[in-house]
Amino acid sequence: MHKTVLITGGTRGIGKALVQHYCNHGYKVIATGSSEQSMENSRIAFEDVRWLVCNLKCVVSIEKFAMALGDQPLHMVIHNAGVQQSRDLFVAGDETIDIEDETMINFTGPIMLTRLLFDNVQRVSGTWVFVTSGLAIAPKQSSPIYCANKAGLRAFCKSFNGQIKLHNSDIKVCEAIMPLVDTDMTQGRGKGKISPQQAAQEIFDGAAKGKKEIHIGKIRILMKIRSLFPNLIENIMLKA
Ligand SMILES: NC(=O)c1ccc[n+]([C@@H]2O[C@H](COP(=O)([O-])OP(=O)(O)OC[C@H]3O[C@@H](n4cnc5c(N)ncnc54)[C@H](OP(=O)(O)O)[C@@H]3O)[C@@H](O)[C@H]2O)c1
Repeated sequence: MHKTVLITGGTRGIGKALVQHYCNHGYKVIATGSSEQSMENSRIAFEDVRWLVCNLKCVVSIEKFAMALGDQPLHMVIHNAGVQQSRDLFVAGDETIDIEDETMINFTGPIMLTRLLFDNVQRVSGTWVFVTSGLAIAPKQSSPIYCANKAGLRAFCKSFNGQIKLHNSDIKVCEAIMPLVDTDMTQGRGKGKISPQQAAQEIFDGAAKGKKEIHIGKIRILMKIRSLFPNLIENIMLKA
């Protein structure tokens, strides 16, 4: 029997590479986009994938999406969709995504979806993957809400793992901590980015092992340096 994976934000970037990777490995893939329009090309490129709208800014859309899945068993759910808005708290009005929407997409929406799809995953002792960022550990000054959202998701993963232990459950929760990846989100900034394909491969491998934390690419070095010099990375990143 084919295992089923749900990937949010499968239209572009890391999500698109994840869709490709899981298809290549024989999974039945369900993927989401924020609108019918944004999924048009993806439907053509990945005909065997079940594409559904789940606009994470909108509670009704999240509920409708969960209803559409019904009691579909989910062996893996990858909360990948995300947005990052640069924001200077000293300069009002230079933003295209407001604070509520950014927090819904990055933090509240994925958690709501986790509650709504809890039984779909638990029934098959499945795996949850939450895509966070090195910025959850060492925030930069220029995207304060994004960094806070990802740090919140990181805390949520830790509490969730605590509850798994408490309930002696077989389900797994993995936090995939990303370095800079070459996608629309990072267009025109940063150096030494890894490809979305490398990110997808490392998420796939780490999730298959049920790792509580999947350290992708340079995050492995960041974690080592941080254990030796706890404040160094934070001080460097705050300048970005
Ligand atoms: N790129 C990096 O360097 C980097 C580093 C650390 C962490 N991450 C994390 O990795 C994940 C993927 O990032 P990426 O770089 O691949 O981003 P991306 O290329 O900008 O793609 C973003 C994805 O999120 C979806 N999305 C955006 N708004 C949404 C909404 N309102 N509702 C539902 N889905 C929505 C998009 O779907 P539509 O096209 O349908 O709108 C798209 O599939 C994010 O969680 C991001 O925070 C990325």
